[in-house]
Amino acid sequence: MNFRKPKGTKDILPKEIYKWHFVEKTIREVTDLFNFSEIRTPTFEYTDLFKRGVGAETDIVGKEMYTFLDKNGDSLTLKPEGTAPVMRAFLESGIYGEQNLHKLYYLTGMFRYEKPQAGRYREHTQFGGEILGSNSIYTDVELILMAKEVYNRCGINNFKIKLNSIGKPEERRNYIKILKDYLRDHLNELSEESKKRYESNTLRVLDSKDSGDRQITDSAPKIIDHMGTESRQRFHDVVNELTRLGAECEIDFRIVRGLDYYTDTTFEFVSSDLGSQDALGGGGRYDGLIEQLGGKPCPGVGFGSGIERIIIVAEKNGFTFGEPGNPLVYFIALNEEARKVAFAAALSLRQNNISSETDLLGRSFKAQMRDANKMGVKYVYIIGEDEIKKGMGILKNMSDSSQIEVSFDKIRENIV
Ligand code: HAM
Repeated sequence: MNFRKPKGTKDILPKEIYKWHFVEKTIREVTDLFNFSEIRTPTFEYTDLFKRGVGAETDIVGKEMYTFLDKNGDSLTLKPEGTAPVMRAFLESGIYGEQNLHKLYYLTGMFRYEKPQAGRYREHTQFGGEILGSNSIYTDVELILMAKEVYNRCGINNFKIKLNSIGKPEERRNYIKILKDYLRDHLNELSEESKKRYESNTLRVLDSKDSGDRQITDSAPKIIDHMGTESRQRFHDVVNELTRLGAECEIDFRIVRGLDYYTDTTFEFVSSDLGSQDALGGGGRYDGLIEQLGGKPCPGVGFGSGIERIIIVAEKNGFTFGEPGNPLVYFIALNEEARKVAFAAALSLRQNNISSETDLLGRSFKAQMRDANKMGVKYVYIIGEDEIKKGMGILKNMSDSSQIEVSFDKIRENIV
């Protein structure tokens, strides 16, 4: 029987894992520099968390969740996004009350039953950051700058930061009425999807990719013109600070985001290297979410970014992700006794943080040499019958082919 991986998933094979390690390492370095702490939540949650947190009318909850009943009859869902689980853990653990400000990040698999295409998977790995406890514009700014720093360190500089504000809930409610009034006259011309969204999630008509819809919404009233002075000022302050700090952004009224919890700032990093799934990352504020999930009012802002998309864009930009890691020393053993010596010497190097390899297939000298070459090791250490007698092997430097005799217990001292 032939088994295949489930549709929309992927294997990351050893020959490309170094790219993932590079991006993951970069994320951990940058989150450290910005003083974020990692938080890990379960792979699945009770389904109601997402219905309540993300919104029943959203695509994620309405169409894309991997939901199942467990043997106890409880409805569980593989996490399609990270914010609601982090908020749940934040409230449930009590870290909520321990200090005023929390800067959290995660790097984890997420699951959405979407139609797979380039850059869109049913399982993706997401890096996300959340700042809880402050509604200072500097929290929005810091998150955007942190994401930008990760992208830059992965060789990605050609993205656009698109920024919008969807205002406070009451401003948004009011604006949605105005938007609906405008769209009502064009209802017949809208795409089928947007007709549905007109009722259920009106704001999302603005981010439709359909060119007819976009023509109609080009002239639609803009929320920025229907917000109070405070919200508008806040938005301009975010834009100005980002610009001052070298993160040029573009104001785009279409960035309304697909999740219900957003308030005020919404943003996306977009890259033309991604094709139609052009969001490298995205996020925004969610000042009402914690209260909605049963906590005391607590402002928050966050973002998420798919690692797969970071790798796609970095590769298109010719980024090399460093070199795949190679062992430093390869032990070539020519008989059984030599193999024993080689195995012990390799172990001793490894215990001293020097990566090394031995031949585990009992191959000929030539085949072992070929293997060592293929791995790109810096040294081979050859042990044959004579070497066993002398207690000394031959250490060959592969870069200049020079070789010296080195006793079995002095290998470490002779490699650089
Ligand atoms: P999102 O825009 O749904 O936001 O996802 C964030 C990022 O995850 C996207 O920009 C994209 O890079 C990646 N992504 C999402 N779905 C897929 C997929 N099917 N395949 C590959 N990559 C994907 C959120 O999830 C919010 N929780 C972000 C957030 C955090 N907002 C506030 N805090």
